[in-house]
Amino acid sequence: MYHKVVNKIIYTAVLVCFTSLSAYAETTPATAPESIPEVVDIKDALAPTVVDIDEKSFSCIRDMTPVRHFYVDNLVGDIEGTLAAANAPEGAIYPVGSVVQLVPTEVMVKRESGTFPATGDWEFFELEVNEQGSTIAKRGFVDVVNRFDGNCFSCHAPAREKWDFICESGHGCDPIPIDHKMTGALQRSDPRCGEAEPEDGDWMALFKLKSMVTIGLTKKWIEEKF
Ligand code: HEC
Repeated sequence: MYHKVVNKIIYTAVLVCFTSLSAYAETTPATAPESIPEVVDIKDALAPTVVDIDEKSFSCIRDMTPVRHFYVDNLVGDIEGTLAAANAPEGAIYPVGSVVQLVPTEVMVKRESGTFPATGDWEFFELEVNEQGSTIAKRGFVDVVNRFDGNCFSCHAPAREKWDFICESGHGCDPIPIDHKMTGALQRSDPRCGEAEPEDGDWMALFKLKSMVTIGLTKKWIEEKF
């Protein structure tokens, strides 16, 4: 009788142990979580994104990420967001920090939200570039003109709806007389990249472009003089 009672107690104890062990196993993940979540600094999380821009923000155009015939980058690290906007089939608003370039000397940068609603927060830049790097010749929102006296904002404004001021082709902007063979040749000969990487026909494209620029500038000079 005594043995029977002791046996029963041991049996019950083992059963209880086993049941609680298996319950523990069910609630505990098989492996420890891979990483402890980072502690987010509340101050940093709430701080507005600041896009710091000086001439060091710009360098070799071919180091940026190519999209179709132009290049993009993001100054605050959100290149995925910029690429998603650039590749959105129905257009999208580019995220803060986005940089867009078709030629080495003209840049659009998406500034902090609310900086300049009329331009959709895009700041326009006209750069001077050489082997040493870039200098900012002009920057601003609605009053930057390029070397041919064309106002960046006015030309890009028709693409505002849907395309966030990005003209490409068929986004509503008037076409420019510079084709993608010429813009490609300018990208491949960006002096900030070191050695040029010319393709067949680049020399001719650059020659045509230079002639157009010279004719354009001469025409402007004559118009101003007479
Ligand atoms: C005469 C009109 C005109 C002016 C002035 C002009 N652009 Fe553009 N820009 C265009 C057109 C049109 C395209 C698209 C060309 C293409 O891909 O065929 C373009 C392309 C671009 C692109 C590539 C992305 C896009 O919109 O397709 C950038 C970046 C750009 N321009 C920046 C500037 C900046 C900065 C200025 C001023 C310094 C400027 N542009 C002045 C008409 C203009």
